[in-house]
Amino acid sequence: MVNWLSEIQRRRTFAIIAHPDAGKTTLTEKLLLFGGAIQIAGAVKSNKINRATTSDFMEIEKQRGISVSTSVMAFEYKGYKVNILDTPGHEDFAEDTYRTLTAVDSVILVIDCVKGVESQTRKLLEVCRMRNTPVIVFINKLDREGRDPFDLLDEIEKELKIKVFPMTWPIGIGKLFKGVYHLQEKRLNLFNNENKFVKADNYISITNIYSKELEENVGENFANKLREDVEIIQGVYDVFDKEEYLKGNLSPVFFGSAVNNFGIQELLDTFVEIAPSPKGRESNEKWIPADYPKFTGFVFKIHANLDPKHRDRIAFLRIVSGKFERNKNYYHVRQDKWLKFSNPTAFMAQQKSVIDEAYPGDVIGLYDSGNFKIGDTLTDGDKIHFKGIPAFSPEIFKYVVNKDPMKTKQLQKGLEQLTEEGVAQLFYKKTDNRKIVGTVGQLQFEVLQHRLAHEYSAKCDFDSLPIYKAVWLSSNDNKKLQEFLNDRAQYIAYDKSDRPVFLAESAWLLQMAQEKYPEIKFHTINEFE
Ligand code: G4P
Repeated sequence: MVNWLSEIQRRRTFAIIAHPDAGKTTLTEKLLLFGGAIQIAGAVKSNKINRATTSDFMEIEKQRGISVSTSVMAFEYKGYKVNILDTPGHEDFAEDTYRTLTAVDSVILVIDCVKGVESQTRKLLEVCRMRNTPVIVFINKLDREGRDPFDLLDEIEKELKIKVFPMTWPIGIGKLFKGVYHLQEKRLNLFNNENKFVKADNYISITNIYSKELEENVGENFANKLREDVEIIQGVYDVFDKEEYLKGNLSPVFFGSAVNNFGIQELLDTFVEIAPSPKGRESNEKWIPADYPKFTGFVFKIHANLDPKHRDRIAFLRIVSGKFERNKNYYHVRQDKWLKFSNPTAFMAQQKSVIDEAYPGDVIGLYDSGNFKIGDTLTDGDKIHFKGIPAFSPEIFKYVVNKDPMKTKQLQKGLEQLTEEGVAQLFYKKTDNRKIVGTVGQLQFEVLQHRLAHEYSAKCDFDSLPIYKAVWLSSNDNKKLQEFLNDRAQYIAYDKSDRPVFLAESAWLLQMAQEKYPEIKFHTINEFE
């Protein structure tokens, strides 16, 4: 008999996040190699969408396809079940990444030691901070001539607004990279760039860094430099407090080189030990803990079938509580109906397989013929809705222009379904009945246009609309809100739930509106109740 509680406790569900090119794909692959989930390097394909191929729609679709098969990668390691949720590499799909972050319990953030904190890192960390997601930092590419480690830590603290705690410390960098010293375990891990494949790290226990043994291994200059660094570290950083990490207040930092398979085992060993087991989630009714005995889960991602002849999709469901069983009836709360799944899929590394049961923290794929929307809740009968799949104000806005009036219905249906999948956000203007699509990247317009044509036979174009942000509005003073809606009628649109948004043309105009209407709250995220 499987012990249900220990099944929950041994799970670790997380995402690796990074600015493109920092080494997310490489790290994922090395973790899978360690977990024995794949045998050869190169098996995990990058889901990066190359700028150069953005006009090649099939390429986009193909690459989106690849990212389906690597959406969730699970493996067993030292008695733990590790679930890695993949996030799209391309910045234009940042919204997908934000949603995936709602389905994980912690993250590993990869930073390139040459580049330091980059634009995408900032945005991703903002989302983690909103949910107090515990973050472990992996500073990668130590075999390159990177920046001073103290500078990097400073930059991470300042720019990402997180407190850091170095667990390991590099000795030398670039061509002179000697290895790392584990400050907690008091051992040296020597770098040798032949460690390309799985090989346990090469540890030498050095409990006293003032001993001769350190010199013997890294030479006098590096030994002295490490001693100086460690003294500074001890002066600046306190002891590591796991509770602070679990609250999302403190981030342990590791140094390594993913491509050289260096420092990965250290990272993985600490990760499984300290990272949180599946957490519960807030619903509109109450907090549902992971050990709530009844099954609950929510859909955080929907992926369309690549074959346009088959309109079915895969809905990715994160299990929050209870146990999921194949062929059992579950309650779809929004639609108020019961559904049965005969082919729920689990993802073990690259293999998709039908599963009979799954536990909190697991992500399963459910074949869907159009029942699901992002954010939907599935339960054993409880009428609850999980909160927390946020929509952020898009950054690029365009009017939809229907190019084929005979296909108006198809266009409407396509826009509705594709925006439910999360490809883009849809707004309606009531003053002139026009539809507005908002995205975080140019690429989504291309994907949208292509998929509308191929899957719905609808042709459309986009007219540019110079809007800075769409902000959701709320107020305790209904009269004032109405006054604002009338006053700015031309700049008001409605989201899919018929909630008003203000289309601000510039940061300045938004600020003006905020000053003139202090009774109204302006939200850049649609989650504000
Ligand atoms: P991403 O998913 O975060 O976008 O990054 P990815 O892993 O694809 O890595 C980006 C590039 O950085 C790859 O090189 C990868 O080999 C390299 N890389 C990853 N880790 C390290 C490291 O520790 N040291 C060094 N020097 N390079 C590293 P590429 O040339 O773009 O691709 P490839 O042809 O090597 O696959």
